[in-house]
This record gives sequence, structure tokens and C-alpha cells, in this order.
Amino acid sequence: MRRKLVAGNWKMNGTRATLAELDAIAAAAADRPGVDVAVAVPFTLVMAAAERVPTLSIGAQDVHAADAGAHTGCISAAQVRDAGATFTIVGHSERRADQGETDADVRAKAGAARRNGLTVILCVGETLAERDAGRAEAVVTAQLAGSLPEGATADWLSVAYEPVWAIGTGRTPTIADVAAMHGAIRAELRRSIGNEADAVRLLYGGSVTADNAAGLLAAGDVDGALVGGASLTAAKFVPIIEAA
Ligand code: 13P
Repeated sequence: MRRKLVAGNWKMNGTRATLAELDAIAAAAADRPGVDVAVAVPFTLVMAAAERVPTLSIGAQDVHAADAGAHTGCISAAQVRDAGATFTIVGHSERRADQGETDADVRAKAGAARRNGLTVILCVGETLAERDAGRAEAVVTAQLAGSLPEGATADWLSVAYEPVWAIGTGRTPTIADVAAMHGAIRAELRRSIGNEADAVRLLYGGSVTADNAAGLLAAGDVDGALVGGASLTAAKFVPIIEAA
């Protein structure tokens, strides 16, 4: 039985003033012990968030593949762990697109996170052109095969399926399309890590809101949600936790 995980991704949003939103999110999470709740905040807020709401899982949105060194402007998994993060996102499509991250980069980052005691939400997802060309499952399973560290286990890995065209657009795939993709991801995981795949949580992300969360979270092989815009305020995020 996989516990549901509802994770927020604040992306490049939030300053110290925004941290007050976490108080109500943490309270809602404490009231619902059957659901895991996590929020990936900007690096600048990790330490303050972790200290402010110690009962909530606070994470980063990326880490460098190296533990330390001459990488001006980068942040390592060891550093975010030291700041109080318990997890990190890796391989978000915005980083794959904006920073040119490859599957090999994502795999190295996931390994660095694991090595430093962080759990990982590894993101995959197709573009609209790839879906329209009928290649969505092939693209996503290839991304996963290329990004997944060897010997990954469910105690530290979750996979988020985030169709690029659904992120921030208000568009979502049909429930059937989400279930089909999550089934394909589960099958690819079985090929890579065997029976361990059955315990890995698969999250859906892309325009999740209070209105569509219940339906998406009830789809086959959907074990949670990765939420962008609707995680920025407790008013929008708490109903998604409730739906889970
Ligand atoms: P939105 O929920 O804003 O569409 O963003 C999804 C996402 O990219 C989460 O990582």
C-alpha cells in the first residue's frame, strides 16, 4: 500500500514574507497523518522554512551533482541537507529546458541527493509536439531509463509525471491518459528495479488544482501530486491535501 504524497513546488516564487503560508499547510498536514505533505521552496528559504515548520518536509528544487567544489552559483545536496531539507526535486522540465539538463545530469543529481541523505522526486514528461506525434510514452520511459540511478529504492525515490504542456497552462491530460502513462512508468520501473517498482510512488504534476485533484489522485497508479501554482498559498494547497 503506497501512501499518498502531495508535494508543492514553489519554483522561483517566495520571499520570507511568504513563509507564513507554510504555517497553515503544516497544520493541515498534521491533521491528516495518512497523507505525506512536502514543499520544495527556493534555496534562499530552505533554512528558514525548515526551522519555522519542523513537522513539514521541506525540500529543494535542484541540487548539483557534486558534493562541493568550484561551481560558482550552484548548491550541493550536502548543503541543502545541512540547511534542513529532507528531499529535492531533480529533472524538472523547466531545468531540462532552461538549463539544458540531460538524463545523465539528472541521474547524477539524483545520486548526489541519495548519497547525502535526501529523498528524491525525479521528474519526467513529454512536450505537446511529442504527444501529438504519438511518442509520449516512448519519450517518458526513455527519460526515466536514462535518469534513474542504478539500484533505486522506494524509500528514497518518487517519480513525477509532468507533461510539459500541462504545466502552468490549466490544461491536464484525461484521467485515462494519466493512468496509461503511470502504468507505462511503473512497467519501465519494473524493468529497471524489479519488484521494488511496486513500492515507488508515482506523482502526477501539471495544473493540479483543488477542483481536479480528487479525480487525478484517484487514477490508476497515481500516488500523489506535484503542485506548482496551487501550492503557493495554503488556501489553494490545503484542499489538494484534503483531496488526497
Ligand atoms: P503547475 O501546478 O503550476 O502547473 O506546475 C506544475 C509543476 O511544474 C510542478 O513541478
